[in-house]
Parts: sequence; structure tokens; C-alpha cells
Amino acid sequence: MTIWIPRLSGEGPRYRQLMTAIEAAIASGELRPGDRLPPQRRLADALGVTLGTVTRAYGEVEGHGLVEARVGSGTYVRDKQGKDGLSAPFRHVAEHHDMIDLSLSLPPPHGERQAGLGRAMAAMQQDPQALGHAIDYQPEGGLESHRHCFARWMQKLGMPVSGEELIINQGGMNGIFLALAALLGPGERLAAEALSYPGLISAAQQLGVRTVALPVDDEGLDVEALARRCERQPFRALYVMPDHHNPTTVKLSEARREALVALARRHDFWLIEDGVQYLPPAQRGTPLYRLAPERTLLLFSISKILGGGLRSGVMRVPPALHGRITTAIRTQSWMPPPLIADLVCRWIDSGDADRLLQWQQQELERRHALARELLGEFDFSARPGGFYLWLPLPVGRRASALLEQLARRQVWITPAEAFCVGSEPAPQAVRICISAARDSASLELALSRLREALHHPDPAPWQTL
Ligand SMILES: Cc1ncc(COP(=O)(O)O)c(C=O)c1O
Repeated sequence: MTIWIPRLSGEGPRYRQLMTAIEAAIASGELRPGDRLPPQRRLADALGVTLGTVTRAYGEVEGHGLVEARVGSGTYVRDKQGKDGLSAPFRHVAEHHDMIDLSLSLPPPHGERQAGLGRAMAAMQQDPQALGHAIDYQPEGGLESHRHCFARWMQKLGMPVSGEELIINQGGMNGIFLALAALLGPGERLAAEALSYPGLISAAQQLGVRTVALPVDDEGLDVEALARRCERQPFRALYVMPDHHNPTTVKLSEARREALVALARRHDFWLIEDGVQYLPPAQRGTPLYRLAPERTLLLFSISKILGGGLRSGVMRVPPALHGRITTAIRTQSWMPPPLIADLVCRWIDSGDADRLLQWQQQELERRHALARELLGEFDFSARPGGFYLWLPLPVGRRASALLEQLARRQVWITPAEAFCVGSEPAPQAVRICISAARDSASLELALSRLREALHHPDPAPWQTL
């Protein structure tokens, strides 16, 4: 039987090296939930370290919530959603050595986010009417004043919508769930790009919706392939990221937007247009909701501009769907908290949100320039103002091995595998969120380690007979 034996590398005490190797193997999927770690004495012998070293490393990893010791049975990798372990996306929240997490699409940190929120809170505190609204139940789709505030802001950002068309929700993920719950029943089909936002994939799974994966090329979703699928297999809705595909960064061409809309009309399916990954207006195409307002839901969120913690966003909904979406909101939560919408609107109305966005765009420009400088020799794609790079790996390289190698150097990125719809094969490619590094220095360090790992792969990690 094969036992998992890590290669220890790096500096510092051996228990720490082992601990990092275990955590890297869990992150890369080499060790999966339910896998048993090698018996401690066997591993100590295999690595030439003391039993105490292994015991200490196992104890530390258990302290991080990634494994669980079961008396008399051994140590097992926890389920990612384990009851007191952190789910995979929140590794970065844990107290964690010197790791640089480029696996999450987070806006670049800036103290002005906290300051802007603080000012909005202080202003709200002085407004008894707003506090009264925050205490009471309110209409499912949000207060009219909040909907109009979002509409004015979106108009400014190049997304013309009216307050009447908007429904306030709790961010992009909530928008996806509401759209699927309102449009599709269990067993019905949802089409999506073959690589898609992981939240869409899990929402569809949870609702028992079947996904149909569609190919994407450098003009975006392959609408001809979609047309062929429509003939064979009707579906209720298509989820698509036309402006900034997550993860490949591709933009859907104008010709394909027209063709897509014509197809949606011919075969009568809904369009769920995800615009959460914000890009400046010059980088975007004609929105689908402008081309086919009667059948397109647009999802927009503050998460990539102000921050994800407030859980706030809006969806632009065709009038025919308003009732279904508000029913979905009522059955989930009655309504999004008016307290949060009020704070967000104060932030927007004060002009602070625009100033923050302006800074963010400049900061992202600097980060993209750094990425071009350090990784220019590799064939990655990126969009000005976008949070991430998409890097198809050089021939012969595997994403899982690169991930593991980088994790040993305390850098985290995301493999294409995370975005695969259904059982579609994963390309050997990775997404690197340059926005997420805490500052330019740590981005530079992480990208230098990535470049180094691309130039000098570690030997294959597998040991088996
Ligand atoms: C394409 C896409 N849609 C939706 C979401 C979820 O957005 P939110 O954080 O507002 O829930 C994300 C988050 O990264 C995303 O990338």
C-alpha cells in the first residue's frame, strides 16, 4: 500500500516544514477530505525525524482545523466544511505564518475602506428616520430611496438602470441563488461556460439544477456550440460573465452578444448576466440586459469595489420576473437588511465610494505593471482594472504540482479545476489574484516565487510502487 510521504524543504524547524507540507498537500488536493495521514511512527522513520517532530506537526495542523485526530484510529483530513474547521476560501483568515494568498478575488486593501464605512456609520447614527427604517421590516426588494441610490451610482459607472428595475440583495452570490431559485426547478437545465464561477456551480448543485457546460474561446462563450446544444437539449437559463469571465478574463465579442440574444429569443431561455467582477466602462461591451431587457437579469455587487463583508448588491430584473425574485427573497430572509443598504448608500452618496474606486483602479494598474515585469515571458491574460491573471501553464507542467510547490513557498493560487462545471476536464492553468496581496512588496515576492517555480519545477511529488 502507498503511504503519503512528503518532501521536506525550506528553512526552520523540521516540525514546521512537515506542517507546511501537510497543509500544502491538503490545499492542492493531494490529500483529500477523509484521507488518513501516515501513522506517526512510520512517517518519522520514513523522514528520518523524531516521533516528537511528527506529533508536534500533526498537532499544529490540527490546531488550524485541517485534520482531526481520532482516538485509536489515526489522524484524518477534515471535510473542508468541517464543523469547526474553516472552509477552504478562508484559509487566509486563519493566523497563518507568512503566507501570501492570491487565491481569492478580493479588492486591494486600503485603510479608506474602514474609514469610509466608519463615516457612513457615524452619519447614520445621527439620522433617526434611517434608524427607524433599519429596525422595521421593509419591502423585499429594498427601500425605494436605496434602489434609486444604486441606480444613480450604476448610471455613473456606465450601467444605465432605473431604480424601478433594481432589487436590492445580499451580494453577487445571493443574486445567483435568487436567480436560480426563481428561474429553475430541480432537474431543469442551466447552461454555463465550461469554466465558471464556483459559487454558481455549488448553487446549481444545491438546488438540484443540472448544468450544461459550453465551450469558451478567445471571443468568449461559443455561441455556435450553444446553438447546437439548444437544438438537442432545451434549457431554461444561461449564466454568463460577458465582460470579465472568471477565471479566464475573456470578454464576449459584440457579434456574439448579438447572436446570443437572438438565440435566447428563438429558444426562449433566460439570461443571467454576471457583472460582479467589475471592470471600467471602456473595458466592457454592450450589456446583455440592454440588448434583451425582457429576458436578462444583471447581477451587480459592491464586493469588488467597497468590500465583500457588507454583503450588499443589486440585481436588475425584467418586470415579468419581479414577483418571482421577491418571493425568493421573502422565503430566504424576508428582505436584505435595510441597515446595510443605508450604510452603502451613504458611502456612495458621500463621493467616498467613487474616490476609493479611482484609487483602486490606479493601484490595479501598478499591480498589472508589476505582473508584466515579473511574468512577461509567460503567456498569461489579464484585463486592465481586473483583479486576476489567467495563466495557462507551459507545456509539460501540471497545475496541481505547481500549486503544491508554491504552497511550500507560502503562496496560494487557484487551479482551473476549481472552476470546472460538471465533469468537464480541467485545463492545466491557474488563476492568480494580484488584487489580493496586502501590498506591492508582498505581490512582488509572491510573483517572484511563482516565476521561480515556473522555471524550476520540483520533482514529481508522487511516490508509489
Ligand atoms: C463572477 C462572480 N459572481 C459572483 C460573485 C460573488 O459576489 P459577492 O461577493 O458579492 O457575493 C463573485 C465573487 O468573487 C464572482 O467572481
